[in-house]
Amino acid sequence: MKDQQECDKILSEIKTDENVQKMKEYIQHGNVSTFEHCENVAKLSYEIDKRFSLHSDLKVLLTGAMLHDFYLYDWHEEGDGSHHLHGFRHAKRACENAKKYFSIDKETDHVIYSHMWPLNPERFPRSKEAWIVCFADKWVSLKESLFRKRK
Ligand SMILES: [Fe+2]
Ligand SMILES: [Fe+2]
Repeated sequence: MKDQQECDKILSEIKTDENVQKMKEYIQHGNVSTFEHCENVAKLSYEIDKRFSLHSDLKVLLTGAMLHDFYLYDWHEEGDGSHHLHGFRHAKRACENAKKYFSIDKETDHVIYSHMWPLNPERFPRSKEAWIVCFADKWVSLKESLFRKRK
């Protein structure tokens, strides 16, 4: 409960932002929205930090996790052509949106930018916060893809 409150306190402004709310309109995996996916990654990132006493900067960790897929389009649809190579390109788009709508620092930017490593091999995670989100994203994505919720 205390943990939930700590996360909510850090993320409340971001999660209620109208542009972040738009992530609810896009499907990430199976029938999980991008918003829900980012929430799951933030939750797991927090749990990893606490479980292994990593003492991360929680604002950087949670903000980076919540905005790591803040690219704001449906990657299943072709769109205007900018969705091509989604896997390679979306992290950069998420960084651009994060900077456009929030004042994020360099560390948070790096968490978002490097989260698709090793698909983008040159974007090696260089902080523990970036490593945690990079790992949490892969684990959560696998779970969301394998265990689809039945409606
Ligand atoms: Fe991603
Ligand atoms: Fe993701």
